[in-house]
Amino acid sequence: MDAGVHRIVFLGPPGAGKGTQAGALAKELGIPHLSTGDILRAAVAAGTLLGREARGFMDAGRLVPDALVLKMLAERLAAPDARSGYLLDGFPRTIPQAEALEEVAPSEIVVSFEIPSHVLVARLSQRRICPKCSTVYNLETQPPRVAGRCDRDDMELIQRPDDRPEAVAVRLKVYTEQTAPLLDFYRRRGRLRPIDAAGTPAEVAARLHAALR
Ligand code: AP5
Repeated sequence: MDAGVHRIVFLGPPGAGKGTQAGALAKELGIPHLSTGDILRAAVAAGTLLGREARGFMDAGRLVPDALVLKMLAERLAAPDARSGYLLDGFPRTIPQAEALEEVAPSEIVVSFEIPSHVLVARLSQRRICPKCSTVYNLETQPPRVAGRCDRDDMELIQRPDDRPEAVAVRLKVYTEQTAPLLDFYRRRGRLRPIDAAGTPAEVAARLHAALR
């Protein structure tokens, strides 16, 4: 892996496995894993103004308006730990977001997770998360040690409201219409590195490392 690369973006449809791969890679590179979905879910859980404004959009599977997300991300990128770089997971998701990132701290590599939609739908229907520590499980491929409980803090696992089938359908459509155009945005800038995101998490991790070399 190129040790000089510190600003990485993960791009891909819902359920592609971005969050699953991001934690370990960020740790390895010593950069923060910034998931806009996790930050927004924490704001919803804490009942902050941002959380109250974002909740309806998120539960329905729609994007939170750019203005809210951009303000939130600018604050996060200004924190001391982000000075050495970042692994952005779930941002940018629209052309205006990508343009705003170019102004603040342009990415060096954009990894695009490529996967057929029937695999996504199957993964999302089986996903459960810990409401306290955000650890992600999958009833089929990554089950908890004790059924229904988080391995780390024994909290009862929940299903994300936007993993209901009707919200998943909206999220896939939103991805195609609003986020997929970013593939071309980054391809034209010579930064896009596509990987095959089907297969086991270990297989995907190996492809990810190869793409970053
Ligand atoms: P966000 O949380 O970013 O959701 P997403 O992009 O839809 O991505 P997911 O978290 O669903 O999937 P993932 O690719 O991380 O997959 P995971 O690793 O969990 O955003 C949620 C919402 O917040 C948005 O809809 C929007 O409302 C709002 N939002 C966030 N950012 C925004 C922005 N920038 N602008 C506007 N709004 C924004 O894996 C999925 C499942 O598969 C898990 O169960 C996992 O265990 C399993 N799995 C993972 N890898 C594998 C594998 N290789 N094999 C088998 N199973 C696997």
